[in-house]
Amino acid sequence: MCGIIGYVGSRPAKEIIYSGLQRLEYRGYDSVGIATLGKKIKIIKAVGPTNKLDLDLVDATATTGIGHTRWSTHGKPTETNAHPHSYGLITLVHNGIIDNYQELKEKIGQPKLKSQTDSEVLAALIDHYYNSKNNLIEAIRLAISDARGTLGIAVITKDHPNQIVVARRGSPIVIGVGDKQNFVASDSSAIVDHTSKVIYLRDDQIGLITPNSVELFDMKLNSQEVSIETLDNNSELLDKGQYSSFLEKEIFEQPTSLGNVMRGRVGSDGSIVLGGPNLSQSEIQSIKRILIIGCGTAYYAGYYARYELEKILGLQVTVEHASEFRYRHGALEPESTLAIFMSQSGETADTLASLREAKRRGLKTMGIINTVGSTIAREVSHGGIYLHAGIESSVASTKAYSSMVVALLMFGAFVAYKQGRDASMTRKIAQELLALPNEVSLALENKSQIDKIARKLSKYDNWFFLGRGTLYPVAQEGSLKLAEVAYINSQALPSGEMKHGPIALVDKKHLSVLLLPEDQLLYKKNLSTLEEIKARGGNVLTISSRPKEKLSDFHLELAYSGEYTNGLIYNVYLQLITLAIATKKSLNIDRPRNLAKSVTVE
Ligand code: F6R
Repeated sequence: MCGIIGYVGSRPAKEIIYSGLQRLEYRGYDSVGIATLGKKIKIIKAVGPTNKLDLDLVDATATTGIGHTRWSTHGKPTETNAHPHSYGLITLVHNGIIDNYQELKEKIGQPKLKSQTDSEVLAALIDHYYNSKNNLIEAIRLAISDARGTLGIAVITKDHPNQIVVARRGSPIVIGVGDKQNFVASDSSAIVDHTSKVIYLRDDQIGLITPNSVELFDMKLNSQEVSIETLDNNSELLDKGQYSSFLEKEIFEQPTSLGNVMRGRVGSDGSIVLGGPNLSQSEIQSIKRILIIGCGTAYYAGYYARYELEKILGLQVTVEHASEFRYRHGALEPESTLAIFMSQSGETADTLASLREAKRRGLKTMGIINTVGSTIAREVSHGGIYLHAGIESSVASTKAYSSMVVALLMFGAFVAYKQGRDASMTRKIAQELLALPNEVSLALENKSQIDKIARKLSKYDNWFFLGRGTLYPVAQEGSLKLAEVAYINSQALPSGEMKHGPIALVDKKHLSVLLLPEDQLLYKKNLSTLEEIKARGGNVLTISSRPKEKLSDFHLELAYSGEYTNGLIYNVYLQLITLAIATKKSLNIDRPRNLAKSVTVE
């Protein structure tokens, strides 16, 4: 989604803004722009990647500037619609959506706009108030009071050459604190090369930033306390190193990221220590129902854990798409329900809106989040678990997924222990979890064998991913990954559903990936699915811990890591299949078309 970067200091702004925009590329975008503030404001824009910007056209000596990567919502991806937008004395970059932009246009007498964006309307509105009040902070305050929707903005004006003003409502803004220089960004990855000291702007806060100062104000323009936090991100995490894509790097980082999510939390004696969830003993005792909410891959991680948590806790566990939860009207039981919000970015608009809805309806809410200090992490009522997976740069999520599953398994074992359930079960979960990083390393060693088979599979344009039990959500995640990264039409189904309709699609050009489980009974049931597909001329890749079945066309064998974690080993294989096919097709693996990393619009 859209990204913001800004600099104010004594170095040439354009270089810093340019490299910040490159850092933001992982979020997905279709156009870019930079404004430098020297004697005059100069703006350059381009449709397409950052390297299409002609840096010679901006002021090389300017030491203040803002930049933006745009993911279109209002208006097509054109240079005119790209940010920064200037109107009158105001130049701004904007993330988010102004819902009432038509109304605002009327309010200020239908200004003559160049673009079709809601963002330019916001620039015109700020300019309108700036002309009458002659005070930029007041003008921004009035404009954002009028605006409905979401915004994260950075504003410059030639009247104040060494200053950027930022504001947020619903769309993140982080201020990076340097030595005689300061930075602004929509996420910290854009500034980690320069500083690890950050200030997270809160909703309805305005920040005034100069090279030597940061002042914060609330919506009544009262001064607010500035609290500086330290990032634990390391800028080295942002380099691909020996890998050909971030996706590959992040798949191979999983042994480390899985170790990180468990560090200090899982003991070899079976103890689980979680400091993040803020749940009293009586609140834990009262949990009768768990609701897991997220989008995309985060949702599938919750779906995986649903099967295991039901087994571990004997409770009703439901999983909801965040984009649907808000429109459901079923009775909720606040006293006994815990809602867990899953998000890598911690900023996904639908997940955030669902969190607010759940809180409004009185539920206890917890987060399982990768990005420290993100909005969802800060708004949950009962704390949660940080994944500590490091920055995930590839648009498609891989390491965050496996860490989310592990975080939920740890939480299940934690609640089981606190609720006084069978200690031998929590010990078994802990042991499986501790062995998992090594099991994943071993699975990754099979890459070349997986590549060989995947290359043969790349000729199929239509796929099914099939599994039962926990392997059904693993199939869902595998199918999403293949579709989004390798652009292959695929759907995931519980194996048993095939004969209720979808089998009509099977023919000799169709491939089914059948995830065969360890469990003897379920294994046999899946064999009938294999037979049904073969009888209709379909092709099947089986993946299991047993030798190849005669009927299967392709087969990959994996190691059995245990009942709670085994799905994650299948998942590693599916991740590697997608990587191999997208590589063979020479696709832009880290930035698939039409997608954005952090989906901050509903
Ligand atoms: C798929 C993918 C998306 C995200 C989804 C939620 O590979 O990355 O489906 O999982 O947009 O994002 P977060 O976890 O940031 O809330």
